[in-house]
Amino acid sequence: MAEFTLPKNSKVGVGKTVKAPAGAAKVKNFKVYRWSPDDDKNPTLDTFEIDLNDCGPMVLDALIKIKNEIDATVTFRRSCREGICGSCAMNIDGTNTLACLKPIEDVKGDVKVYPLPHMPVVKDLVPDLSQAYAQLASIEPWLKTVTQPPPDSERLQSPDDRAKLDGLWECILCFCCTTSCPSYWWNGDRYLGPAVLLQAYRWLADSRDEGKGERLDALEDPFRLYRCHTIMNCTKTCPKGLNPAKAIAEIKKMMVERQG
Ligand code: SF4
Ligand code: SF4
Ligand code: FES
Repeated sequence: MAEFTLPKNSKVGVGKTVKAPAGAAKVKNFKVYRWSPDDDKNPTLDTFEIDLNDCGPMVLDALIKIKNEIDATVTFRRSCREGICGSCAMNIDGTNTLACLKPIEDVKGDVKVYPLPHMPVVKDLVPDLSQAYAQLASIEPWLKTVTQPPPDSERLQSPDDRAKLDGLWECILCFCCTTSCPSYWWNGDRYLGPAVLLQAYRWLADSRDEGKGERLDALEDPFRLYRCHTIMNCTKTCPKGLNPAKAIAEIKKMMVERQG
């Protein structure tokens, strides 16, 4: 498993410890990154002792328990609780993943929870994804057409062409991959990163899309695409088992093919 560095504002001090209730039989320490823009303080790692006999099985269950029962100010994003919305992406036990899909029992020792690395932090476990969302918008992630659709049907696609989108449409835009990518850490203002490039390929690979030329033109740039050095952190960390590094390689192949 890849170990990642801490979020940007990250001189992390020791924070408070909240003890488990008396009689707790199966205690696990959750060490949670805390930082608030409202305090003029460095971040801390707060420790919450949780009785696993009184907690759901996933790291997100523990965070929800902490928020509901111990400290309502602990801040994180979540919505679906089943690996679909991508909101609960964070760094757990040194790896970017979804808190709702990460079993507590998979973590040996204390459970260390940080926001996704190398992004500005809004508060606690909430990263500021504004740049990544703007980059997503820049690749125009929608079907582009110039021809009229058939008068009496939708734009159809053969089963084989539809199958080319497998491994792409499943992306939930959690940005676990992008925030694990060293090239993105150092050049995130100009390099699009693996999540957005996988989305770019999702439209390039769609047989119904008629914007391929302009899509490739927009990616033909020393930074937007070509900062990927095939380090593969992205593919190793994707909680949906996708392969953004392969999607990036496919775009590079398309670039070569259209030149020759
Ligand atoms: S490719 Fe995987 S890690 Fe990256 S944004 Fe999509 S689902 Fe998340
Ligand atoms: S393969 Fe490319 S996108 Fe993936 S982590 Fe490495 S440099 Fe980043
Ligand atoms: S809460 Fe939706 S992916 Fe975890």
